[in-house]
Amino acid sequence: MDRLVIQGGQPLRGRIRVSGAKNAALPCLAASLLTPEPVLLSNLPAVADIRTMVKVLQALGTEAALEPEGEGFELKARLACGGSEDPKAPYELVKTMRASILVLGPLLARFGQATVSLPGGCAIGARPVNLHLEALERMGAVMEISHGYIHATLKGRLKGIDHTFEKVSVGATENLLMAATLAEGTTVLRNAALEPEIGDLAHMLAGMGARIEGIGTGTLTVTGVARLHGCEHAVIPDRIEAGTFLCSVAAACGDVVLDRCEPDHLRALLDLLERAGCVLTEREGQEGRQLRIQRECGQKLHSKDIVTQPFPGFPTDLQAQAMAVMTQATGISVINEGIFENRFQHAMELERLGANLRAEGHRAIVAGPSELTGCTVMATDLRASAALVIAGLVASGETVVDRIYHLDRGYAGLERKLQGVGARIQRIGGGKV
Ligand code: EPZ
Repeated sequence: MDRLVIQGGQPLRGRIRVSGAKNAALPCLAASLLTPEPVLLSNLPAVADIRTMVKVLQALGTEAALEPEGEGFELKARLACGGSEDPKAPYELVKTMRASILVLGPLLARFGQATVSLPGGCAIGARPVNLHLEALERMGAVMEISHGYIHATLKGRLKGIDHTFEKVSVGATENLLMAATLAEGTTVLRNAALEPEIGDLAHMLAGMGARIEGIGTGTLTVTGVARLHGCEHAVIPDRIEAGTFLCSVAAACGDVVLDRCEPDHLRALLDLLERAGCVLTEREGQEGRQLRIQRECGQKLHSKDIVTQPFPGFPTDLQAQAMAVMTQATGISVINEGIFENRFQHAMELERLGANLRAEGHRAIVAGPSELTGCTVMATDLRASAALVIAGLVASGETVVDRIYHLDRGYAGLERKLQGVGARIQRIGGGKV
Protein backbone atom coordinates (compact mmCIF):
# COMPACT_ATOMS: atom_id res chain seq x y z
CA MET A 1 0.00 0.00 0.00
CA ASP A 2 1.53 3.33 -1.04
CA ARG A 3 2.43 6.00 1.46
CA LEU A 4 3.90 9.49 1.26
CA VAL A 5 6.98 10.46 3.29
CA ILE A 6 7.38 14.20 3.88
CA GLN A 7 10.22 16.18 5.48
CA GLY A 8 8.46 19.36 6.55
CA GLY A 9 9.61 22.93 7.06
CA GLN A 10 10.48 23.69 3.43
CA PRO A 11 8.85 26.81 1.86
CA LEU A 12 7.30 26.21 -1.58
CA ARG A 13 8.58 28.22 -4.54
CA GLY A 14 7.91 27.91 -8.28
CA ARG A 15 4.99 27.09 -10.61
CA ILE A 16 2.36 24.38 -10.71
CA ARG A 17 0.10 23.54 -13.65
CA VAL A 18 -3.42 22.71 -12.49
CA SER A 19 -5.06 19.62 -14.03
CA GLY A 20 -8.63 19.17 -15.23
CA ALA A 21 -11.43 18.96 -12.68
CA LYS A 22 -12.31 15.43 -11.47
CA ASN A 23 -15.80 16.61 -10.52
CA ALA A 24 -16.40 18.02 -13.98
CA ALA A 25 -14.84 15.05 -15.78
CA LEU A 26 -17.08 12.46 -14.07
CA PRO A 27 -20.47 13.87 -15.20
CA CYS A 28 -19.02 14.69 -18.63
CA LEU A 29 -17.95 11.05 -19.00
CA ALA A 30 -21.46 9.93 -18.02
CA ALA A 31 -22.94 12.33 -20.60
CA SER A 32 -21.24 10.37 -23.39
CA LEU A 33 -23.99 7.74 -22.88
CA LEU A 34 -26.52 10.20 -24.33
CA THR A 35 -25.37 9.74 -27.94
CA PRO A 36 -24.26 6.85 -30.20
CA GLU A 37 -21.74 9.21 -31.82
CA PRO A 38 -18.10 9.53 -30.75
CA VAL A 39 -17.28 11.90 -27.88
CA LEU A 40 -13.75 13.17 -27.28
CA LEU A 41 -13.02 14.46 -23.76
CA SER A 42 -9.69 16.06 -22.88
CA ASN A 43 -7.96 17.58 -19.85
CA LEU A 44 -9.31 14.71 -17.73
CA PRO A 45 -7.17 14.29 -14.59
CA ALA A 46 -5.16 11.06 -14.56
CA VAL A 47 -6.74 9.79 -11.33
CA ALA A 48 -8.32 6.53 -10.19
CA ASP A 49 -11.91 7.83 -10.24
CA ILE A 50 -11.66 8.66 -13.95
CA ARG A 51 -10.40 5.17 -14.75
CA THR A 52 -13.20 3.69 -12.65
CA MET A 53 -15.85 5.74 -14.45
CA VAL A 54 -14.46 4.59 -17.82
CA LYS A 55 -14.74 0.98 -16.58
CA VAL A 56 -18.38 1.63 -15.62
CA LEU A 57 -19.06 3.01 -19.10
CA GLN A 58 -17.40 -0.02 -20.68
CA ALA A 59 -19.56 -2.30 -18.54
CA LEU A 60 -22.53 -0.42 -20.03
CA GLY A 61 -21.44 -1.09 -23.60
CA THR A 62 -19.28 1.95 -24.31
CA GLU A 63 -16.20 1.59 -26.47
CA ALA A 64 -13.61 3.66 -24.64
CA ALA A 65 -9.94 4.47 -25.15
CA LEU A 66 -7.90 6.48 -22.66
CA GLU A 67 -4.59 8.05 -23.66
CA PRO A 68 -2.20 10.25 -21.67
CA GLU A 69 -1.83 13.88 -22.66
CA GLY A 70 0.38 16.75 -21.44
CA GLU A 71 3.01 15.80 -18.89
CA GLY A 72 1.17 12.62 -17.92
CA PHE A 73 -1.14 14.26 -15.39
CA GLU A 74 -4.04 14.41 -17.84
CA LEU A 75 -5.90 11.94 -20.01
CA LYS A 76 -7.86 12.11 -23.24
CA ALA A 77 -10.87 9.79 -23.63
CA ARG A 78 -12.50 8.68 -26.88
CA LEU A 79 -15.92 7.23 -26.14
CA ALA A 80 -18.81 5.83 -28.16
CA CYS A 81 -21.85 4.11 -26.73
CA GLY A 82 -23.52 2.45 -29.73
CA GLY A 83 -26.05 0.63 -27.61
CA SER A 84 -26.60 -1.20 -24.36
CA GLU A 85 -28.66 -4.39 -24.19
CA ASP A 86 -29.21 -4.56 -20.49
CA PRO A 87 -27.43 -1.52 -19.00
CA LYS A 88 -26.12 -2.47 -15.56
CA ALA A 89 -23.58 -0.56 -13.45
CA PRO A 90 -22.17 -3.28 -11.18
CA TYR A 91 -21.73 -2.98 -7.42
CA GLU A 92 -18.04 -3.92 -7.67
CA LEU A 93 -17.39 -0.68 -9.56
CA VAL A 94 -20.06 1.56 -8.02
CA LYS A 95 -18.91 0.80 -4.44
CA THR A 96 -15.47 2.19 -5.28
CA MET A 97 -16.81 5.37 -6.85
CA ARG A 98 -20.18 6.77 -5.77
CA ALA A 99 -20.37 9.14 -8.71
CA SER A 100 -21.33 6.10 -10.82
CA ILE A 101 -24.90 7.07 -9.91
CA LEU A 102 -24.49 9.77 -12.58
CA VAL A 103 -25.08 7.15 -15.30
CA LEU A 104 -28.68 6.68 -14.15
CA GLY A 105 -30.15 9.77 -15.79
CA PRO A 106 -28.38 9.30 -19.13
CA LEU A 107 -29.27 5.57 -19.30
CA LEU A 108 -32.97 6.28 -18.67
CA ALA A 109 -32.98 9.10 -21.21
CA ARG A 110 -31.21 7.05 -23.89
CA PHE A 111 -32.34 3.45 -23.29
CA GLY A 112 -35.42 3.74 -21.06
CA GLN A 113 -33.99 1.38 -18.47
CA ALA A 114 -31.07 1.02 -16.07
CA THR A 115 -29.79 -1.11 -13.25
CA VAL A 116 -27.41 0.79 -11.03
CA SER A 117 -26.05 -0.33 -7.69
CA LEU A 118 -27.02 1.93 -4.80
CA PRO A 119 -23.76 3.75 -4.05
CA GLY A 120 -23.99 3.38 -0.30
CA GLY A 121 -22.33 5.74 2.12
CA CYS A 122 -18.71 6.74 2.45
CA ALA A 123 -16.34 8.10 5.10
CA ILE A 124 -17.84 11.61 5.02
CA GLY A 125 -21.50 10.72 5.28
CA ALA A 126 -24.55 8.65 4.33
CA ARG A 127 -24.64 10.21 0.85
CA PRO A 128 -28.27 9.32 -0.01
CA VAL A 129 -29.54 9.59 -3.59
CA ASN A 130 -33.22 10.27 -2.84
CA LEU A 131 -33.14 13.65 -4.62
CA HIS A 132 -32.00 11.92 -7.82
CA LEU A 133 -34.62 9.14 -7.64
CA GLU A 134 -37.60 11.35 -6.68
CA ALA A 135 -37.05 13.70 -9.60
CA LEU A 136 -36.51 10.90 -12.13
CA GLU A 137 -39.72 9.24 -10.90
CA ARG A 138 -41.54 12.50 -11.50
CA MET A 139 -40.24 12.33 -15.09
CA GLY A 140 -41.94 8.94 -15.47
CA ALA A 141 -39.30 6.42 -14.41
CA VAL A 142 -40.38 3.50 -12.21
CA MET A 143 -37.76 2.81 -9.55
CA GLU A 144 -37.61 -0.52 -7.78
CA ILE A 145 -34.89 -1.08 -5.20
CA SER A 146 -33.89 -4.65 -4.44
CA HIS A 147 -30.75 -6.46 -3.40
CA GLY A 148 -28.86 -3.17 -3.22
CA TYR A 149 -29.65 -2.19 -6.80
CA ILE A 150 -31.86 0.47 -8.36
CA HIS A 151 -33.91 -1.12 -11.16
CA ALA A 152 -35.26 1.75 -13.22
CA THR A 153 -37.72 1.25 -16.07
CA LEU A 154 -39.69 3.59 -18.25
CA LYS A 155 -42.59 3.38 -20.69
CA GLY A 156 -41.78 5.54 -23.70
CA ARG A 157 -39.66 8.65 -23.03
CA LEU A 158 -38.97 10.70 -19.89
CA LYS A 159 -41.45 13.58 -19.56
CA GLY A 160 -40.36 17.17 -18.89
CA ILE A 161 -41.24 18.46 -15.37
CA ASP A 162 -41.10 21.69 -13.42
CA HIS A 163 -39.06 20.56 -10.40
CA THR A 164 -37.70 22.32 -7.33
CA PHE A 165 -34.98 20.39 -5.51
CA GLU A 166 -35.77 20.39 -1.80
CA LYS A 167 -32.02 20.62 -1.13
CA VAL A 168 -29.15 21.86 -3.31
CA SER A 169 -27.44 18.78 -4.72
CA VAL A 170 -24.57 18.78 -7.25
CA GLY A 171 -25.12 15.18 -8.34
CA ALA A 172 -28.91 15.36 -8.52
CA THR A 173 -28.68 18.54 -10.60
CA GLU A 174 -26.25 16.84 -12.98
CA ASN A 175 -28.29 13.63 -13.26
CA LEU A 176 -31.53 15.50 -13.99
CA LEU A 177 -29.88 17.95 -16.37
CA MET A 178 -28.58 15.05 -18.46
CA ALA A 179 -31.92 13.19 -18.30
CA ALA A 180 -33.85 16.30 -19.37
CA THR A 181 -31.87 16.79 -22.59
CA LEU A 182 -33.70 13.87 -24.29
CA ALA A 183 -37.02 14.14 -22.43
CA GLU A 184 -40.33 14.95 -24.09
CA GLY A 185 -41.14 18.65 -23.59
CA THR A 186 -39.51 21.16 -21.31
CA THR A 187 -37.91 20.55 -17.92
CA VAL A 188 -37.35 23.35 -15.40
CA LEU A 189 -34.91 22.55 -12.58
CA ARG A 190 -35.17 25.04 -9.69
CA ASN A 191 -32.87 25.31 -6.67
CA ALA A 192 -30.25 23.75 -8.94
CA ALA A 193 -26.65 23.65 -7.72
CA LEU A 194 -24.37 26.43 -9.02
CA GLU A 195 -21.02 24.66 -8.86
CA PRO A 196 -18.81 25.47 -11.90
CA GLU A 197 -18.72 21.76 -12.78
CA ILE A 198 -22.43 21.95 -13.61
CA GLY A 199 -21.84 24.85 -15.96
CA ASP A 200 -19.09 22.85 -17.62
CA LEU A 201 -21.41 19.84 -18.07
CA ALA A 202 -24.11 22.12 -19.47
CA HIS A 203 -21.67 23.58 -22.00
CA MET A 204 -20.68 20.08 -23.09
CA LEU A 205 -24.35 19.07 -23.47
CA ALA A 206 -25.06 22.22 -25.48
CA GLY A 207 -22.14 21.22 -27.71
CA MET A 208 -23.97 17.93 -28.28
CA GLY A 209 -27.11 19.77 -29.39
CA ALA A 210 -28.93 20.06 -26.08
CA ARG A 211 -31.10 23.15 -25.57
CA ILE A 212 -30.39 24.60 -22.10
CA GLU A 213 -31.16 28.07 -20.75
CA GLY A 214 -30.06 29.55 -17.43
CA ILE A 215 -26.58 28.01 -17.35
CA GLY A 216 -24.79 29.35 -14.28
CA THR A 217 -28.05 30.18 -12.51
CA GLY A 218 -30.16 28.24 -9.99
CA THR A 219 -32.92 27.67 -12.59
CA LEU A 220 -32.08 25.50 -15.58
CA THR A 221 -34.64 25.25 -18.40
CA VAL A 222 -34.11 22.35 -20.79
CA THR A 223 -36.09 21.79 -23.99
CA GLY A 224 -35.85 18.09 -24.81
CA VAL A 225 -34.61 17.01 -28.27
CA ALA A 226 -34.94 13.70 -30.11
CA ARG A 227 -31.23 12.92 -30.15
CA LEU A 228 -27.81 14.37 -29.34
CA HIS A 229 -24.68 14.22 -31.49
CA GLY A 230 -21.05 13.67 -30.55
CA CYS A 231 -18.70 16.45 -29.46
CA GLU A 232 -15.20 17.39 -28.36
CA HIS A 233 -14.91 18.95 -24.90
CA ALA A 234 -12.05 19.93 -22.60
CA VAL A 235 -13.05 19.97 -18.94
CA ILE A 236 -12.44 23.05 -16.75
CA PRO A 237 -9.45 23.32 -14.40
CA ASP A 238 -9.83 21.67 -10.99
CA ARG A 239 -10.68 24.40 -8.48
CA ILE A 240 -10.23 22.00 -5.57
CA GLU A 241 -6.77 20.91 -6.70
CA ALA A 242 -5.86 24.59 -7.18
CA GLY A 243 -7.27 25.42 -3.74
CA THR A 244 -5.28 22.57 -2.21
CA PHE A 245 -2.04 24.06 -3.56
CA LEU A 246 -3.03 27.54 -2.35
CA CYS A 247 -3.62 26.10 1.13
CA SER A 248 -0.23 24.33 0.95
CA VAL A 249 1.58 27.64 0.42
CA ALA A 250 -0.56 29.46 2.99
CA ALA A 251 0.40 26.84 5.58
CA ALA A 252 4.03 26.11 4.62
CA CYS A 253 4.96 29.63 3.33
CA GLY A 254 6.51 30.46 -0.04
CA ASP A 255 5.67 31.98 -3.42
CA VAL A 256 3.90 29.85 -6.04
CA VAL A 257 2.19 30.59 -9.36
CA LEU A 258 -0.64 28.31 -10.42
CA ASP A 259 -1.01 28.00 -14.20
CA ARG A 260 -4.32 27.23 -15.91
CA CYS A 261 -6.69 27.87 -13.03
CA GLU A 262 -9.90 29.87 -12.86
CA PRO A 263 -9.87 32.41 -9.95
CA ASP A 264 -13.61 33.01 -10.37
CA HIS A 265 -14.17 29.42 -9.25
CA LEU A 266 -12.29 30.06 -5.99
CA ARG A 267 -13.46 33.45 -4.70
CA ALA A 268 -14.47 32.18 -1.23
CA LEU A 269 -11.03 30.64 -0.61
CA LEU A 270 -9.14 33.59 -2.12
CA ASP A 271 -11.06 35.94 0.17
CA LEU A 272 -10.28 33.80 3.23
CA LEU A 273 -6.55 33.53 2.47
CA GLU A 274 -6.26 37.27 1.73
CA ARG A 275 -8.02 38.15 5.00
CA ALA A 276 -5.69 35.69 6.78
CA GLY A 277 -2.68 37.62 5.46
CA CYS A 278 -1.56 35.96 2.21
CA VAL A 279 -0.88 38.04 -0.92
CA LEU A 280 -2.83 36.83 -3.96
CA THR A 281 -2.47 38.19 -7.49
CA GLU A 282 -4.22 37.17 -10.71
CA ARG A 283 -2.97 37.61 -14.26
CA GLU A 284 -3.33 36.24 -17.79
CA GLY A 285 -0.75 33.58 -18.72
CA GLN A 286 -0.02 31.68 -21.94
CA GLU A 287 -2.38 28.88 -20.90
CA GLY A 288 -5.20 30.95 -19.41
CA ARG A 289 -5.60 32.58 -16.04
CA GLN A 290 -2.88 32.39 -13.39
CA LEU A 291 -2.98 32.79 -9.63
CA ARG A 292 0.06 33.73 -7.52
CA ILE A 293 0.11 33.24 -3.75
CA GLN A 294 2.78 34.60 -1.43
CA ARG A 295 3.29 34.15 2.29
CA GLU A 296 6.75 35.07 3.48
CA CYS A 297 8.41 32.78 6.03
CA GLY A 298 7.69 34.04 9.53
CA GLN A 299 4.78 36.15 8.30
CA LYS A 300 1.88 35.86 10.76
CA LEU A 301 -1.42 34.34 9.60
CA HIS A 302 -4.66 35.58 11.17
CA SER A 303 -7.25 32.97 12.18
CA LYS A 304 -10.60 33.18 10.36
CA ASP A 305 -13.95 31.41 10.75
CA ILE A 306 -15.19 29.13 7.95
CA VAL A 307 -18.69 27.92 7.06
CA THR A 308 -18.93 25.45 4.19
CA GLN A 309 -21.91 26.01 1.86
CA PRO A 310 -23.00 25.29 -1.70
CA PHE A 311 -21.22 27.36 -4.38
CA PRO A 312 -20.39 30.26 -4.32
CA GLY A 313 -19.99 29.72 -0.57
CA PHE A 314 -16.86 28.16 0.89
CA PRO A 315 -16.50 24.66 -0.66
CA THR A 316 -16.78 21.64 1.61
CA ASP A 317 -14.06 20.00 -0.50
CA LEU A 318 -11.56 22.59 0.80
CA GLN A 319 -12.64 22.47 4.45
CA ALA A 320 -10.01 19.92 5.52
CA GLN A 321 -7.22 21.76 3.72
CA ALA A 322 -8.27 25.08 5.24
CA MET A 323 -8.31 23.49 8.69
CA ALA A 324 -4.66 22.53 8.20
CA VAL A 325 -3.95 26.19 7.33
CA MET A 326 -5.77 27.45 10.41
CA THR A 327 -3.55 25.32 12.68
CA GLN A 328 -0.82 27.81 11.69
CA ALA A 329 -2.95 30.94 12.15
CA THR A 330 -2.82 33.06 15.31
CA GLY A 331 -6.09 32.93 17.24
CA ILE A 332 -9.26 30.86 17.24
CA SER A 333 -10.86 29.60 14.03
CA VAL A 334 -14.40 28.18 14.19
CA ILE A 335 -15.10 25.83 11.27
CA ASN A 336 -18.69 24.82 10.51
CA GLU A 337 -19.18 21.91 8.08
CA GLY A 338 -22.55 22.73 6.57
CA ILE A 339 -22.77 20.05 3.87
CA PHE A 340 -21.73 16.62 5.18
CA GLU A 341 -22.36 15.03 8.54
CA ASN A 342 -18.97 13.41 9.13
CA ARG A 343 -16.29 15.43 7.45
CA PHE A 344 -13.87 16.03 10.33
CA GLN A 345 -11.98 12.74 10.31
CA HIS A 346 -8.80 14.61 9.43
CA ALA A 347 -9.11 16.52 12.74
CA MET A 348 -7.96 13.62 14.92
CA GLU A 349 -4.99 13.01 12.66
CA LEU A 350 -4.08 16.71 12.70
CA GLU A 351 -4.19 16.53 16.52
CA ARG A 352 -1.68 13.69 16.40
CA LEU A 353 0.65 16.01 14.48
CA GLY A 354 0.32 18.54 17.30
CA ALA A 355 -2.61 20.72 16.20
CA ASN A 356 -4.68 22.22 19.00
CA LEU A 357 -8.30 21.68 17.97
CA ARG A 358 -11.62 20.11 18.99
CA ALA A 359 -14.14 18.71 16.53
CA GLU A 360 -17.69 17.87 17.55
CA GLY A 361 -20.67 17.31 15.26
CA HIS A 362 -20.69 19.96 12.54
CA ARG A 363 -18.23 22.26 14.31
CA ALA A 364 -14.47 22.28 14.85
CA ILE A 365 -12.54 24.86 16.84
CA VAL A 366 -8.88 25.41 15.99
CA ALA A 367 -6.50 27.35 18.26
CA GLY A 368 -3.25 28.36 16.61
CA PRO A 369 -0.51 28.65 15.83
CA SER A 370 0.60 25.09 16.78
CA GLU A 371 4.03 23.59 16.46
CA LEU A 372 3.48 20.50 14.30
CA THR A 373 5.88 17.59 14.62
CA GLY A 374 6.01 14.75 12.12
CA CYS A 375 4.56 11.29 12.77
CA THR A 376 2.68 8.56 10.88
CA VAL A 377 -0.92 9.55 10.08
CA MET A 378 -3.69 7.77 8.22
CA ALA A 379 -5.73 9.14 5.35
CA THR A 380 -9.47 8.42 5.66
CA ASP A 381 -10.92 10.13 2.59
CA LEU A 382 -9.81 12.09 -0.44
CA ARG A 383 -9.70 15.62 0.95
CA ALA A 384 -8.63 14.56 4.45
CA SER A 385 -5.55 13.01 2.82
CA ALA A 386 -4.73 16.37 1.24
CA ALA A 387 -5.03 18.09 4.61
CA LEU A 388 -2.55 15.63 6.11
CA VAL A 389 -0.07 16.27 3.29
CA ILE A 390 -0.37 20.01 3.91
CA ALA A 391 0.24 19.50 7.63
CA GLY A 392 3.22 17.28 6.79
CA LEU A 393 4.71 20.10 4.69
CA VAL A 394 4.60 22.27 7.83
CA ALA A 395 5.57 19.74 10.52
CA SER A 396 9.17 19.53 11.67
CA GLY A 397 10.75 16.14 11.05
CA GLU A 398 9.22 13.30 9.05
CA THR A 399 5.52 12.73 8.41
CA VAL A 400 4.29 9.52 6.83
CA VAL A 401 0.80 9.63 5.30
CA ASP A 402 -0.62 6.12 5.04
CA ARG A 403 -3.43 4.76 2.81
CA ILE A 404 -2.90 7.35 0.11
CA TYR A 405 -5.05 5.36 -2.31
CA HIS A 406 -7.65 7.87 -1.09
CA LEU A 407 -5.46 10.67 -2.45
CA ASP A 408 -4.96 8.91 -5.78
CA ARG A 409 -8.70 9.00 -6.40
CA GLY A 410 -8.67 12.74 -6.97
CA TYR A 411 -5.15 14.18 -7.30
CA ALA A 412 -2.95 13.53 -10.35
CA GLY A 413 0.70 13.40 -9.28
CA LEU A 414 0.27 15.51 -6.15
CA GLU A 415 3.68 14.62 -4.76
CA ARG A 416 5.39 15.27 -8.12
CA LYS A 417 3.76 18.67 -8.43
CA LEU A 418 4.81 19.53 -4.87
CA GLN A 419 8.36 18.28 -5.52
CA GLY A 420 8.38 20.71 -8.45
CA VAL A 421 8.07 23.63 -6.02
CA GLY A 422 10.67 22.33 -3.60
CA ALA A 423 8.74 20.11 -1.20
CA ARG A 424 10.67 17.18 0.23
CA ILE A 425 8.02 14.53 -0.41
CA GLN A 426 8.37 10.99 -1.74
CA ARG A 427 5.95 8.21 -2.59
CA ILE A 428 7.03 4.79 -1.30
CA GLY A 429 5.36 1.44 -1.95
CA GLY A 430 5.64 1.74 -5.68
CA GLY A 431 2.01 1.07 -6.61
CA LYS A 432 0.72 2.62 -9.83
CA VAL A 433 -2.64 4.31 -10.08
C1 EPZ B 1 -20.43 16.32 -5.20
O1 EPZ B 1 -20.91 15.21 -4.47
C2 EPZ B 1 -18.92 16.16 -5.26
N1 EPZ B 1 -18.58 14.93 -5.95
C3 EPZ B 1 -18.33 16.13 -3.84
O2 EPZ B 1 -16.91 16.07 -3.96
C4 EPZ B 1 -18.71 17.43 -3.13
O3 EPZ B 1 -18.24 17.39 -1.80
C5 EPZ B 1 -20.23 17.61 -3.15
O4 EPZ B 1 -20.72 17.55 -4.52
C6 EPZ B 1 -20.66 18.92 -2.54
O5 EPZ B 1 -20.08 19.98 -3.23
C7 EPZ B 1 -18.61 14.91 -7.31
O6 EPZ B 1 -18.94 15.90 -7.95
C8 EPZ B 1 -18.25 13.62 -7.97
P1 EPZ B 1 -24.39 16.68 -3.19
P2 EPZ B 1 -22.52 14.92 -4.43
O7 EPZ B 1 -25.43 15.84 -3.84
O8 EPZ B 1 -23.13 15.29 -5.71
C9 EPZ B 1 -27.24 15.53 0.44
C10 EPZ B 1 -14.76 15.24 -3.57
O9 EPZ B 1 -14.07 15.30 -2.54
N2 EPZ B 1 -27.98 14.74 -0.56
O10 EPZ B 1 -24.25 18.10 -3.60
O11 EPZ B 1 -22.72 13.56 -3.91
C11 EPZ B 1 -25.85 14.98 0.71
O12 EPZ B 1 -25.90 13.96 1.69
C12 EPZ B 1 -16.23 14.90 -3.45
O13 EPZ B 1 -14.34 15.47 -4.73
C13 EPZ B 1 -29.19 14.18 -0.19
O14 EPZ B 1 -29.64 14.31 0.94
O15 EPZ B 1 -22.97 15.96 -3.31
C14 EPZ B 1 -25.10 16.19 1.19
O16 EPZ B 1 -25.40 16.41 2.56
C15 EPZ B 1 -16.63 14.56 -2.02
N3 EPZ B 1 -29.89 13.45 -1.11
C16 EPZ B 1 -25.73 17.34 0.38
O17 EPZ B 1 -26.99 16.83 -0.09
C17 EPZ B 1 -29.43 13.28 -2.40
O18 EPZ B 1 -30.11 12.62 -3.21
C18 EPZ B 1 -24.90 17.76 -0.84
O19 EPZ B 1 -24.61 16.58 -1.59
C19 EPZ B 1 -28.19 13.87 -2.75
C20 EPZ B 1 -27.50 14.61 -1.82
